[in-house]
Amino acid sequence: MLTFCSNTDSNNYLRGRKGGEGDGLCNPAWHDTVARLHFWETIPVDLLNNLRGVVFLSCAFAFDCVACPDHEPEIETMTSNTPNSGEPFVPTKLIKHFQANHTTRDAQTSGWSALWDSQQNDLWDRGKPSPALIDLIESAPWPSRERRRPKALVPGCGKGYDVVMLALHGFDVYGLEVSPTGVETARAYAAKQLDAPLAHNYGEGNQEKYPKDQRGEVTFMAGDFFKRDWEGKCVREGETFEGFDLIYDYTFLCALLPEMRQDWGRRMGELLGPQPAKLVCLEFPLYKDLKLPGPPWALREGIYYDVLAGGGTGVFDNDEAAQSALQRPNKGPLERVARIRPSRTYPQGEGTDHLGIWQVKSW
Ligand SMILES: C[S@@+](CC[C@H](N)C(=O)[O-])C[C@H]1O[C@@H](n2cnc3c(N)ncnc32)[C@H](O)[C@@H]1O
Repeated sequence: MLTFCSNTDSNNYLRGRKGGEGDGLCNPAWHDTVARLHFWETIPVDLLNNLRGVVFLSCAFAFDCVACPDHEPEIETMTSNTPNSGEPFVPTKLIKHFQANHTTRDAQTSGWSALWDSQQNDLWDRGKPSPALIDLIESAPWPSRERRRPKALVPGCGKGYDVVMLALHGFDVYGLEVSPTGVETARAYAAKQLDAPLAHNYGEGNQEKYPKDQRGEVTFMAGDFFKRDWEGKCVREGETFEGFDLIYDYTFLCALLPEMRQDWGRRMGELLGPQPAKLVCLEFPLYKDLKLPGPPWALREGIYYDVLAGGGTGVFDNDEAAQSALQRPNKGPLERVARIRPSRTYPQGEGTDHLGIWQVKSW
């Protein structure tokens, strides 16, 4: 069973999946009645080339019902503070850390660096690359403009799980981290994985399809996403910088203060190459109450849409306002090509995570 939702009703659809009453629990009927459907196997569309001109394709699926109490997030991780849980808000270690000393934009980067330096990166570490991104990458060859390996950027790359995974799949990948300690940690992880990659870097049974001699290169850079001084490192001799073929954002936007969102969107527009290049955002956390503090700061489909397509600030304190951003005239740098519910994602986002796929405007 497959359900396509328009932009405006997809949130309602998701609410329906969670029981329809906004109780945050899943309706047991879903377990038994819905087909288990694997998007990438079922719809062999080449999302990357063929959807040009489609402003959005918002797909929701009848699929594995995963918004269960068993998947309720732990309180001390990036995923705390579920809406409608009836539990009082308990600030996590991460939130307390930022509320104590790092509430301004300037102090924000030092707040992350301090966590890396005191080895508290376990507060957000997922321990493996994004299953949703792996499935996307393995579903079709990634287009690049010239006859060269596609070039990818992972801003706020953390330990570099997605950076390494993309290189193993043939991308030349640049991992950007504001913390020099984070960069060192990522380099050590990459050295081990590139030598002997773990199975978690591939979809089931797919490892052999990506031989060693077709791997790309990994470059980690210490730098601030909002500054331009690192961009020169992403260009080889004789090349001019023409943007990335893929930019991947997972838990980077939600790590930033809400007031930084508009600049995040503007930077994505600057860094993404012309079509067919794509920005891929694994939207998280979509379940968290917009009024609660972060990081992670609560996000919504409409927030991504507002900053990337609408050119707005992306700052909303209620769901209605965030939803109405989907109607905003397109004044931002990008257009949305597709929005998909991945069949696999991290447990913390099961039942809510979506992949948004964006490109530079075609008009
Ligand atoms: C929540 S973590 C996510 C890490 C990674 N994406 C992952 O999935 O493991 C956010 C990361 O962004 C980094 N970061 C925060 N602000 C940044 C900035 N302005 N430029 C580059 N990296 C930044 C932090 O140091 C931190 O490692």
